[in-house]
Amino acid sequence: MTDRQILTADADWWRQAAVYQIYPRSFADASGDGLGDLRGIADRVDYLRELGIDAVWLSPFYPSALADGGYDVDDYRDVDPRLGTLEDFDAMLAALHEAGIRVIVDIVPNHTSDRHRWFREALASPKGSKERGRYVFRDGRGEKGEEPPSDWISYFGGPAWEPVGDGQWYLHLFAKEQPDLNWDEPEVNEEFLTTLRFWSDRGVDGFRVDVAQLLLKDIPEDPQQIMSKAEADAIDRTTGEHPFEERPGVHEIYATWREVFDSYDPPRTAVAEAWVSSPEQRARFARQDSLGQSFNFDLLEADFDAEQFRSIIEKNLAISEASGSSTTWVLSNHDVVRHATRYGLDPVAGTGRKGGAQWLLEGGAADAVRADAGLRRARAASMLLMALPGCTYMYQGEELGLHEVGDLDPDSRQDPTFLRNPGVDVGRDGCRVPIPWSRGGASLGFGETDAAPHLPQPEWFASSSVEAEDCDPASTLSLYRRALELRRILQADEELEWLETGAEGVLAFRRPSGWVSVTNFGAEPAPLPEAISESGAELLLSSGPETGEQTPAEVPGEVPGETTLWLRG
Ligand code: NOJ
Repeated sequence: MTDRQILTADADWWRQAAVYQIYPRSFADASGDGLGDLRGIADRVDYLRELGIDAVWLSPFYPSALADGGYDVDDYRDVDPRLGTLEDFDAMLAALHEAGIRVIVDIVPNHTSDRHRWFREALASPKGSKERGRYVFRDGRGEKGEEPPSDWISYFGGPAWEPVGDGQWYLHLFAKEQPDLNWDEPEVNEEFLTTLRFWSDRGVDGFRVDVAQLLLKDIPEDPQQIMSKAEADAIDRTTGEHPFEERPGVHEIYATWREVFDSYDPPRTAVAEAWVSSPEQRARFARQDSLGQSFNFDLLEADFDAEQFRSIIEKNLAISEASGSSTTWVLSNHDVVRHATRYGLDPVAGTGRKGGAQWLLEGGAADAVRADAGLRRARAASMLLMALPGCTYMYQGEELGLHEVGDLDPDSRQDPTFLRNPGVDVGRDGCRVPIPWSRGGASLGFGETDAAPHLPQPEWFASSSVEAEDCDPASTLSLYRRALELRRILQADEELEWLETGAEGVLAFRRPSGWVSVTNFGAEPAPLPEAISESGAELLLSSGPETGEQTPAEVPGEVPGETTLWLRG
């Protein structure tokens, strides 16, 4: 393991960082109450350092009733007491920084929780008050306002409006415990600027901005004038005329955030989570006078397919260059079915969250998923991603090759997408099951006591635990460690040159340092492209079990099926 570099004042650290997403409630539980916490993260800093990442992104750890896994925030400037205290946060941050790891925290600006001080004040105040003006309250339709202002549906299913008992309704584009804020009200932005300064002053390095495209709304006061769902759906979002999606004014808000980020040394960074209608729209969030970077989910939504991968890579590299940013690559996060499982669905087509949820609903678990094939493809795809120019994001547990837990008992499920859609969507809990750290024990090392973890771990988690994989050179953990170490050594300019492979299912490219990555998406072995075999390149690493160990093997004449090889030449 190479020594970690000390954090430098490099303002561009984010451009090609390897960022590891921690879902705090499911990472490590130091207090032993069944819920992961900040001390648990601090205790695992050595693990994170050995993994070789540049930064962690923490999903929300703020006080919350957990109506949406913490994305329902009661107080943006505190820590959930079950997860620790602000002092624990400072200690965790210091330990991560000491290990050379930067910290990105999650900011949720579209909605607060219904327990937030502002929302409680709004409910206690009359129609037309300043307190209600911080949210999106509208009169209901019907004589006494007994009908919702419109027929809009929330993203989690069910109506997007909730009555408060006096003829008014409030908008919630997600769960009813997540009232949408009114971003036309300057006080709302002032409050968030204060929050950004609060965490920046504490030393956080950057922010992940939740549903960054949704903040602004254009919703008439008169409910009769509010357009229907069908009318809203028919609007081309790129025009900026949808009542809440992709309204261009959000970039003016983010320009004010940028001033805060740039007032620190090094400037704080931000990455937008914005599921928008086109890569071009996404690039607007990545401009240096907006948030600066924007999640690119295109590969996460793609099949394990060479043509799809190549066109997505080409398009996103071109777009990020034009915006002056770097792109972000990601295959898994806390909202989607884990990629080892998606790639194991047969047929492979129709992956992504919906496809995966569909499979889960059909009761597929063990026999519907080709677990080995899925993991093999996942390892190949992850290595390809890590070799690309730009930022690479990984989600806790993917470095262990974890699969989705498809067969969670309905009684243990917590996700509002499940609770609001019984029988339709099983929700996102299957990728949020606590990490297995050891082969045995009550919670496979997740908790310090015998307390049951907040989501039950299946028995098969034991063989993918950190303990089981730690010293196994063929494990996915060993592969990630070695790949991230090599990435650190070989990373150079954000350039990529495609190499001729002579085979449809094979993609190969070279980075300026001579780092070559070649992926065979087909099931059968394919000849190593001549451009590589004739260059005298040295084999560095393979995603396949055959040469998973860390010592370079002889350059093979062919690339095994569903495998990525890294070479240097
Ligand atoms: C996106 C987050 O990733 C997701 O987990 C959450 O449910 C929604 N935003 C609402 O905040």
